[in-house]
Amino acid sequence: MEQYVIKGGNPLVGEVEIGGAKNAALAILAAATMADETVLIENMPDVRDTNILLQAIESIGAIVERVDRHTVKINGSRISNLVIADDYVKKIRASYYLIGALLGKYKSARVALPGGCNIGSRPIDQHIKGWKALGADVKIEHGLIITEAEKLSGSHIYMDVVSVGATINVMMSAVMAEGQTIIENAAKEPHVVDVANFLNSMGANIKGAGTDVIRIKGTGRLHGTEYTIIPDQIEAGTFMFAAAITKGDITVKNVIPKHLESISAKLAEIGCEIEESDDAVRVVASKPLTHTQVKTLPYPGFPTDMQPQMVVTLALARGASIVTESIFENRFKYVDEMTRMGGDIKVEGNTAFINGVEKYTGASITAPDLRAGAALVIAGLSAEGITTVDDIKYIERGYEDFHIKLQSLGAVIERVDSERELQKFKLKIG
Ligand code: EPZ
Repeated sequence: MEQYVIKGGNPLVGEVEIGGAKNAALAILAAATMADETVLIENMPDVRDTNILLQAIESIGAIVERVDRHTVKINGSRISNLVIADDYVKKIRASYYLIGALLGKYKSARVALPGGCNIGSRPIDQHIKGWKALGADVKIEHGLIITEAEKLSGSHIYMDVVSVGATINVMMSAVMAEGQTIIENAAKEPHVVDVANFLNSMGANIKGAGTDVIRIKGTGRLHGTEYTIIPDQIEAGTFMFAAAITKGDITVKNVIPKHLESISAKLAEIGCEIEESDDAVRVVASKPLTHTQVKTLPYPGFPTDMQPQMVVTLALARGASIVTESIFENRFKYVDEMTRMGGDIKVEGNTAFINGVEKYTGASITAPDLRAGAALVIAGLSAEGITTVDDIKYIERGYEDFHIKLQSLGAVIERVDSERELQKFKLKIG
């Protein structure tokens, strides 16, 4: 029963170091298997998702060496198995990035088909469309995606939806295709750019990442590199909202402020002061928060991965707010938990109608997924009394030392794994 137990009410104050971007790391670790030389990756977040993907990478015969907590070496020269077992894909969807990597390098990959997940149905038709356009044969049999190609040839691919996963997966395969590939309507997220930069540092020729047209000249062979992953936009955004919701003053350090612009802009709009420097952003919430309207959109729009943190914060702001989720259909599951804490939020379709309340009261709640889980924790930090958050395994998929970083900002939060520890915490805080 691992849980976070929280005594809310303290404004969070101080500085917090942001780690490497989980969603960039997942693609970069998969892409690292494409070289036959050793690749050194720094600023890798030590979270459950990256650790499971590293196990999947080892399971196909690549050599993985942990240099330290945030540095890993990968050598893909001895890959002997092009099948990724169901176990890994069930635990982590992003193991499908190994299809893009292995299809590119070995012209063959068999990976269990990822199903839906807690935030929606999550089809992969755009990935498949891209691989087929490159000349691969793609079949789904016995729950596996089977991709094979005699050779891959560059192609002109228009993505029907803006997809981070499809853009990255097809980009990885296209690096190893003969000739030029153009991906139109590509995703522009910072992690797409980071993966392109990483591949370029291995000898790929990718231009235009960060715009909606990416041009890739096939290279055929990639070499070793040393690369540092960008800071995590969503971890940073979560701490920025933790400042807002607890009426605190937090500086997120080791960030790229440009990546946080949509988040900073919304926080300023609801009444926070934002100070940016080269690699840090400070959020001061000294005034009452006010209502707003938000719609999640692909980058540079407001990220879907920040939607729950936004909603729990607006539910304590004055007035009526509206939040529309346009990326994933099932991302309001946590709203029932917010009701248990006193939130006044009604969901109709993909829109949450929020009436700001004066305060939350602590309750026993359950994290339904990664970002919603983090949002519930910051709601608990602003609530009166004690909140327990169950199913924190979701939160640990993507936040390294979440409770420890929060403690360093003055939060009263513990990670407990027994009723005895829970009672001990309650006694300690009185
Ligand atoms: C990535 O998921 C992230 N995951 C998600 O972060 C994030 O929420 C999402 O991008 C949007 O920013 C990783 O990077 C590992 P998409 P991904 O393909 O790539 C539809 C987190 O909390 N679509 O950009 O799976 C899809 O249904 C996670 O860290 C298709 O229709 O997202 C969705 O509506 C959760 N067909 C939209 O596109 C496809 O073939 C965007 O999805 C692919 C996607």
